[in-house]
Amino acid sequence: MSYFERMQKNYEALRDKKDVLILSIESSCDETSVAVVKNGREVLSNIIATQIEIHRRFGGVVPEVASRNHIIAISNIFEEALLKAGISKEQIDAVAVTYGAGLVGALLVGVNFAKSLAYALDVPLIAVSHVHGHIAANYISHIELEPPFVCLMVSGGHTALLKVNGYNKMQMLGTTVDDAAGEAFDKVARVLGLQYPGGPEIDKLAKSGNSVYKFTVANALKHTFNFSFSGIKTEVVNLVHNSAQKGVELNKADIACSFQECVTDELAQKVVRACKNQEINKLVVAGGVGANSRLKEKLAGLCEENNIKFFSPVLKYCTDNAAMIGSMAYYMLKDGIGLADLSLTAKPNIAL
Ligand code: KG4
Ligand code: ZN
Repeated sequence: MSYFERMQKNYEALRDKKDVLILSIESSCDETSVAVVKNGREVLSNIIATQIEIHRRFGGVVPEVASRNHIIAISNIFEEALLKAGISKEQIDAVAVTYGAGLVGALLVGVNFAKSLAYALDVPLIAVSHVHGHIAANYISHIELEPPFVCLMVSGGHTALLKVNGYNKMQMLGTTVDDAAGEAFDKVARVLGLQYPGGPEIDKLAKSGNSVYKFTVANALKHTFNFSFSGIKTEVVNLVHNSAQKGVELNKADIACSFQECVTDELAQKVVRACKNQEINKLVVAGGVGANSRLKEKLAGLCEENNIKFFSPVLKYCTDNAAMIGSMAYYMLKDGIGLADLSLTAKPNIAL
């Protein structure tokens, strides 16, 4: 019997096992992370080696540098994850890995490590979407949370409004027609001379500013659940460049604050309207921009006014980590989907 045939049987058997330990791997961008998650909700370990300092001097992630650093880090991070979880390799029931979306060379490091490990341990390999992992970050942060809910997925690469009908049943209500929200935060931060990653820097700087600039988002999308952030990004870039040419000094904190107010208003208003429209009283935020303090503040306020329960991941699970991948993998296993064979490869883009 081939490895995959054996794994099909094992995968089926694991669905009814009382305690399932999944070792999960995430390497889609500039964080190398390995976690051990029990039954989808209990994080036994979640080790993250971040490359932020390495990429900072380039003002953004350099893909080739990211891949090389994943290779350097992954074996040690794996050992550390086992040590912290207090388990041996033999106790691992399945290996899960992010196979997309992300930087292809970075993803390949995690995918190949996961394939070798699953084969060596003779356990099933589960291929997980990075975006689905971000949603699952909420399952480990809020053990009572279950679908259905409306989810605002906002990261560096994605911005989408989803209706999550079941752990593996998602329906797209809206998406960005151009830039992801995180991408706009990062580009605005860059033009303001702030360091990478820009989102947290804008969040910090905005606290000492006032919303004096009236930036706008696309009016044409007002009655839809779609977003556009490239217009506001260009408005800020033009303002900064024109002022520099004229020698006019700008207050960066005011720009950061005005930009953040405009983007978070757009996100918060639409997401609450989506909940009402779908008659769902649970709202979940996912992805790195979900860490934004103003976005959380506005969503919490609007949800309270509208009798909607609001969930966001604890900060350490908001940005990239392997625990969220292990959580998602458990619910894929429960639904009998996602089993991969050794031909699994990295996918830079995958549909939500
Ligand atoms: O989910 P994530 O870690 O990686 C992707 O899958 O893209 O998200 C990274 C994005 C970056 O654009 C970063 O600037 C943004 O999340 N971000 C924030 C904050 N923290 C991270 N954006 C706004 N406010 C924050 N506090
Ligand atoms: Zn991410």
